[in-house]
Amino acid sequence: MKISGRVLRARESGTARIARITTELEAAGKSIFKLNVGEPDFDTPDFVKEAAHQAALDGKTRYTDVAGTAELREAAANKFRSENAVECTTENIIVGAGAKQLIFNALLASLDDGDEVVIPTPCWVSYPDMVLIGGGTPRLVPCGAEMGHKMSAAMLEDVIGPNTRWLIINSPCNPTGAVYTKAELAELAEVLRRHPQVAVVNDDIYEKIIFRGEFATMASVAPDLGGRILTVNGVSKSLAMTGWRIGYAAGPRDLIAAMTKLQGQSTTNPSSVGQAAALAALTDSCASNRFIRKCCEAYERRRSLVHAALGDAPGLRTELPDGAFYHFVDCRKLVGTRLQDGTVISDDRDVCEYLLQGAGVSVVPGSEFNGPGYFRLSFAASDEVLVEACRRIKAAVEAIG
Ligand SMILES: Cc1ncc(COP(=O)(O)O)c(C=O)c1O
Repeated sequence: MKISGRVLRARESGTARIARITTELEAAGKSIFKLNVGEPDFDTPDFVKEAAHQAALDGKTRYTDVAGTAELREAAANKFRSENAVECTTENIIVGAGAKQLIFNALLASLDDGDEVVIPTPCWVSYPDMVLIGGGTPRLVPCGAEMGHKMSAAMLEDVIGPNTRWLIINSPCNPTGAVYTKAELAELAEVLRRHPQVAVVNDDIYEKIIFRGEFATMASVAPDLGGRILTVNGVSKSLAMTGWRIGYAAGPRDLIAAMTKLQGQSTTNPSSVGQAAALAALTDSCASNRFIRKCCEAYERRRSLVHAALGDAPGLRTELPDGAFYHFVDCRKLVGTRLQDGTVISDDRDVCEYLLQGAGVSVVPGSEFNGPGYFRLSFAASDEVLVEACRRIKAAVEAIG
């Protein structure tokens, strides 16, 4: 079968590849500590499940509006207005099968061949490949640890050209946990004011998982740019609802209409029962906030636990992340060293391969996020799992020396 050039240009999702290898090793009887996964280890709260069950019993099992039910769009608009000071009505809202589908739809609906998308890196694995599938060109901007893995206004000014159509900001960031402050976003906005052809995707999916600093999003920091900002959020990470596949976004009407048209010709509405579940999560904010607080307390404890456990592991270095549930571990000192059998570790992929085969711990190479020399370790796992996994990682890197 002939495969299109657009799809051939994209890679298999890097995190999906690691998950597949991990599953193969498990099928072969190996016990693996899976710190590669990007989802909460908590179960969806009961009040959300009950709402979904009730919706199914009530016959809410048919097609809904393509852009989501009116109730859910209203709840999403309320959330954006009250929690994020983003000006919007239901006309500015679309609900999709996860934040991922919404970002994909936005890019596909707006890019023409040759259009460029600025992406600060390290970044979530999917952004560059979504751009490629959309016919665009990713302009990756390396943002090192010395700048807190964040893009400055000067770097943005430098990379913007006549073909730049989008900037993607993800804060808190997967994989680095970096959180942009209001002041930093305001500086980026100042640059964008000089370049009216550039729109912004603000991917806020980790909004609620934040340990230091305050969450901010571009549409509230620079409301005058609202006509070219897509604010993306969802229930996957904050409410442990990754499998329900519901995300929502606020943006300018013409973009939302184009995304809705695209969705209408592909998946139609996201699952009606999933939408009912997300509606309960967004409308019962007391119950949701209680659940989120409980999860964040656990994440914060585990973040410190991993930091302490890997603190004196030779060749590894990690800072406490400000948000999300990942440690982005610097393993550059291991590159160039030799394993006991004489094999040279030539990059972060080799480090991860060694940790997987030798220590039974699955983590994701930083290269998958365009952050070579690092690996991403998810601390969305139980304390017991993290303690044992870190013990194994430490023993494995000690054995290299
Ligand atoms: C930065 C980022 N954005 C979006 C998503 C996708 O979220 P959803 O499950 O709502 O599609 C992920 C999932 O890993 C993510 O890390």
